[in-house]
Amino acid sequence: MKSLIDILDLTVEELDELIATAQDIIANPQKYAEACRGLKLASLFFEPSTRTRMSFEAAMYELGGNVISVTGAGTSSAAKGESVADTAKTVSCYTDIIAIRHPKEGAAYVTAKNATIPVINAGDGGHCHPTQTLADLLTIWREKGRFTNLTIGVCGDLKFGRTVHSLINAMSRYEGNKFVLISPEELKVPSYVKKDVLQQKHIPYVQTTDLMAVMPELDILYMTRVQRERFFNEEDYLRLKDSYILTVDKLKTAKPDLAILHPLPRVNEISVAVDDDPRACYFKQVLNGKYMRMALILKLLKEAGKLN
Ligand code: CP
Repeated sequence: MKSLIDILDLTVEELDELIATAQDIIANPQKYAEACRGLKLASLFFEPSTRTRMSFEAAMYELGGNVISVTGAGTSSAAKGESVADTAKTVSCYTDIIAIRHPKEGAAYVTAKNATIPVINAGDGGHCHPTQTLADLLTIWREKGRFTNLTIGVCGDLKFGRTVHSLINAMSRYEGNKFVLISPEELKVPSYVKKDVLQQKHIPYVQTTDLMAVMPELDILYMTRVQRERFFNEEDYLRLKDSYILTVDKLKTAKPDLAILHPLPRVNEISVAVDDDPRACYFKQVLNGKYMRMALILKLLKEAGKLN
């Protein structure tokens, strides 16, 4: 049973296919309006979410399917000590595909191992968030028209930001890209991402604490929130949370066709005034996420033999 746990579960060809399907959905929504009639998505969110949960649910409804959900660990039998494995076996009895968000790294993998239906990782702790990367990729494709020869700045919490790790993995598979890793010393990209992805694939990258010094060279600026929920100590969070605040003034030296992305939620790292700049793409990214999740649901249900 094919599931999506990590963005690298998808080949480059499969990513291209998902982008093509998403673009077709955007152009011809009516063609897909009954595609999942009679099928159900289980939306299992054991950690807070606005975009991922709602876009999965909207995606399934727009495909003509239905949704049943768990929102918050306290409302399911997880609160009584039920294991992730038993939850997966149970939910497989009622639905056709699972989207799961869980605070523990590896929980989506355990779900996929025990479910008899496809499983989509909607974020597992600080590990992976592959469908956010699908949203990011469609946004990059629609804004830049290519996945190659881009200078990609990622800024903020690069240690705990699971979306950053997935994006680096995904964009490292294309030719000519360069990464500029902008973070406080304490929130640098983990060494396993540098060693196993960037260095192993000979991808050029620089690490800096100075966003303004690198701003003029960026084609993409991917801002991230400092992940309060993953800090052991509130004092460190308070010290680091406002390390980078993107303002209209700071964009004066940026390229005119810079694409500013952010997985959202935003806390304080992009000034609201930046939203009016045509280079701000983060709300387009939110919408693109729904289209890519529609494309993914279709693909996994087809592979599971539930759709023609
Ligand atoms: N980007 C993202 O995962 O947002 P939510 O936490 O609101 O789902």
